[in-house]
Amino acid sequence: MDKHEMKILAIETSCDETAAAVVINGRDVRSNVISSQIALHTLYGGVVPEIASRKHIEKINQVIAQALDEAGMTLDGIDAIGVTYGPGLVGALLVGVAEAKAIAYAKKIPLIGVHHIEGHICANYIENPELKPPFLCLVVSGGHTHLVQVRDYGSYEILGRTRDDAAGEAFDKVARAIGLGYPGGPKIEQAAGSGNPHAVEFPRAKIGDSLYDFSFSGLKSAVLNYLNGCRMKGQEIVQADIAASFQKAVTDVLIGNAVRALKDYGADTFAIAGGVASNAALREGMRKACRDMGVAFYHPSPVFCTDNAAMIGAAAYHDYRNGRRAGLDLNAVPNLKLGER
Ligand code: KG4
Ligand code: ZN
Repeated sequence: MDKHEMKILAIETSCDETAAAVVINGRDVRSNVISSQIALHTLYGGVVPEIASRKHIEKINQVIAQALDEAGMTLDGIDAIGVTYGPGLVGALLVGVAEAKAIAYAKKIPLIGVHHIEGHICANYIENPELKPPFLCLVVSGGHTHLVQVRDYGSYEILGRTRDDAAGEAFDKVARAIGLGYPGGPKIEQAAGSGNPHAVEFPRAKIGDSLYDFSFSGLKSAVLNYLNGCRMKGQEIVQADIAASFQKAVTDVLIGNAVRALKDYGADTFAIAGGVASNAALREGMRKACRDMGVAFYHPSPVFCTDNAAMIGAAAYHDYRNGRRAGLDLNAVPNLKLGER
């Protein structure tokens, strides 16, 4: 089937956002509803998997109803269902997968299982109609830090990845250590706004045997050591300066590896994706680096960077066109690898 208009209802429940969206032909977002559990998990300083699954169950039906409503549609107008089936928290993923299977069965429409990271990458297609593979993409989220070569729609090669903490995870851990709380990324970015990025020279990890891999656990330890040192010496801890210096160290490493890959691969197009891609310092640093190299630079708006279902609808459309269909035996795969089917 190659219908003129392919209306996909997409569902995303891999972590702490219950999300549903209606997306037409992979780019035209008719609705994008996100019910965030952040306030709830803030009480515990991070995502509690059991609570996340329970909240998804409570919210999923109303989130889907709202997404259809805002798009001016009912389930009868939907051509296919796209759902994140991994990677993520297994109990959380299962809520979305079970819901998607039930709708696909009841309405006799195709079911498409979407890789969460592929969704993040495809978020770039939504507002940039001219963006087409091949391009290089830096995916930076709470669970992943991948430098990916996007060869074609649905065809990926991972050039580099983190050896330990993900970039977003480092933001979250450092924010907690300096008393900013959860979620760390936006709070560090805000605090960094009034800080000096050169106040503390935190290390930029280099990995000997791989050109494009990342490591952030040493940086996190350096921040903790610095804090201990200050406390022992009775020195004042200036949150804003630590936030700015840490943010500079992370973005320097991310940009450094991306620039190396862009040069080595002679790529002319670059995109960023994932929750950390909503960070303005990273975005502006990457924009400048790309401008200096004559590389076209793309990024999603912040609402499409952090977890959402519109990006899953965008990815599902290309998977559908590539002939991918899931059966009603689709299961959640918590550690699903990119490019794995
Ligand atoms: O993509 P995402 O919403 O969920 C995952 O798939 O992990 O990413 C969440 C991560 C969190 O670690 C959060 O702290 C980080 O993205 N993040 C940010 C910003 N907004 C969210 N990190 C840095 N600056 C931000 N503005
Ligand atoms: Zn994500």
